[in-house]
Amino acid sequence: MSANSPAEVAAQYATDRNLRVRKETHVRYGVGPDLEPRVDELLALRGNEALLDVGTGPGDFPGRLRDQGHRGRLVGVDLSPGMVEHATAFHPGVEFVQASADALPFPDASFGVLTARHMLYHVPDVPAALAEFARVLRPGGRFLAVTNASGSLGELWDVVAEVAPEEPALGGLLESRAGSAVFSEHNGEGLVRAAFGQVQVDVLDSALMFPSPEPVLTYLESMTALHRLAEGDRGRVREALRRVLAPRFRAGGWRVPKRVALIGARR
Ligand SMILES: C[S@@+](CC[C@H](N)C(=O)[O-])C[C@H]1O[C@@H](n2cnc3c(N)ncnc32)[C@H](O)[C@@H]1O
Repeated sequence: MSANSPAEVAAQYATDRNLRVRKETHVRYGVGPDLEPRVDELLALRGNEALLDVGTGPGDFPGRLRDQGHRGRLVGVDLSPGMVEHATAFHPGVEFVQASADALPFPDASFGVLTARHMLYHVPDVPAALAEFARVLRPGGRFLAVTNASGSLGELWDVVAEVAPEEPALGGLLESRAGSAVFSEHNGEGLVRAAFGQVQVDVLDSALMFPSPEPVLTYLESMTALHRLAEGDRGRVREALRRVLAPRFRAGGWRVPKRVALIGARR
């Protein structure tokens, strides 16, 4: 199993559109404990730390910290020029830099905290990126990765797998999903321990509660394999998914368990 191809990652994150759809789905339909308070609890920031957020996307995390009064240097790095452009426009109080996780343009020991949220499963060489993270952290600095834990949204992927034999595009979706397993709480724990000498793993269990099939379809269509389908093909795939989803909604909403892993270490 390997990470998604660089071309696939570049296409998916050329702008923040697809990611925005998925993030809004999590905000609107999420039930159970929220991720942000758990992140804040684990980082326990004093407010003056120099913090680097790698794979920052639209920069929501460092932007939130600045809005909440963080006084230390805040930097977001992303491989996608489109994301960096968007983040710069929306969060003027944060520095944004276009760079890859495994070649960070900062001197050794530049930061007291480094976060990598929902991004290490896209990186082709995770040990190289983790070594780079350790390099730019000062001794005693803290690292926190946030990632999908094994089995997260498994019931959603069961639906996709049920339709995949008749729709090859859904096979592509399942393959890219399998690529995401390259950095879960299981393999992530060993990789982070190898880079930092120690590791702490937390798993946050929550769920998505969908009121109808429509937001499920919107969520799936934000993924590369589906949003690049021609209009006619997309309509057919939608109908096939709707058919398989219908029984899940017979009793009202559909609850899909979700699991997020938080993997922390100290340099
Ligand atoms: C799922 S998004 C997560 C964005 C943000 N951290 C969040 O949680 O909302 C993954 C982000 O990682 C970026 N990315 C992928 N590979 C990268 C790499 N090798 N170096 C830096 N960023 C990368 C993508 O461009 C994308 O913006």
